[in-house]
Amino acid sequence: MTVNSADDFQGWASAHQCRFEAVLKNFLPADDIAPQRLHAAMRYSVLDGGKRVRPLLAFAAGELAGADQAKTDRVAAAVEMIHAYSLVHDDMPCMDDDVLRRGKPTCHVEYDEATALLVGDSLQSLAFQMLVEQPLNANPAMQLKMVRLLAVASGSRGMAGGQAFDLANVGKQLSLAELEFMHIHKTGALIRAAILLGAYCGGEMPDAQLARLDHFGKCIGLAFQVVDDVLDAEADTATLGKTAGKDADNDKPTYVTLLGAVEAKKMAAELHAEALQSLDEFGSAARRLRELGDFIVMRKY
Ligand code: IPE
Ligand code: IPE
Ligand code: MG
Ligand code: MG
Ligand code: MG
Repeated sequence: MTVNSADDFQGWASAHQCRFEAVLKNFLPADDIAPQRLHAAMRYSVLDGGKRVRPLLAFAAGELAGADQAKTDRVAAAVEMIHAYSLVHDDMPCMDDDVLRRGKPTCHVEYDEATALLVGDSLQSLAFQMLVEQPLNANPAMQLKMVRLLAVASGSRGMAGGQAFDLANVGKQLSLAELEFMHIHKTGALIRAAILLGAYCGGEMPDAQLARLDHFGKCIGLAFQVVDDVLDAEADTATLGKTAGKDADNDKPTYVTLLGAVEAKKMAAELHAEALQSLDEFGSAARRLRELGDFIVMRKY
């Protein structure tokens, strides 16, 4: 059975998740290669866990654009490596100070803080290696654009910048606009990048279509973190695989503290509707992206 013949969303998603696990295993350095402990910690932090939402978004966008699987595998791996590094650092004592991630002890607990720091550094470098080792687009200038896209989405104008804003505002009340800025950066940027990078692996798309895809990514990326805030307040640790109630413990400003859970859920639903609307013109070709949009907002973990 090929991945595309799995007709229902669950079948499509699990076929990709299973296949992608093997792809990641292969891209990560083996843990019998020196430095063994660092490589083991990298594999511990990336493999065997996580919903793989960003890779699935890249696969869905790649399928929409008619991309080769081998190319979307590389961009999906790059984004997931940056994401995994962001989680390892997010959990460290100097940031959210958490002990559980993806149902396992966090990297600095299982290994040590210095190793966790180096896991992040190494995953970030490996992510960019993924994007430059093979041609990902017939046009080399486009591939440069892809590398830049991931760099901006990950750095101080993207995820890392959002994380800095998050830490600078512990214990503070933020306005709706400030909270949106924080969430769009710390979480939205990478989700948005996953979608565009998947699309860029395929055939050329008119700018107007790319803008619609990007708008989908912007809305669904923000919705993802709004739902994360709600789940932190309402779900339990066993379901989440990470410590529930951590935002309140750490005195973080979230959509739940600002609006309350009911209004936060309403906002996620509005963002979901706006996201889906921007896919209208793609028709059935955007089916998987639509289903992922549904999953992101309806998920329980
Ligand atoms: C958690 O992301 C961190 C955020 C950006 C909110 P995910 O909920 O995608 O975590 P995994 O990858 O499934 O563990
Ligand atoms: C994290 O946001 C965003 C990242 C870039 C990792 P959170 O701090 O809310 O993520 P969780 O809840 O720990 O997964
Ligand atoms: Mg955090
Ligand atoms: Mg956290
Ligand atoms: Mg959270």
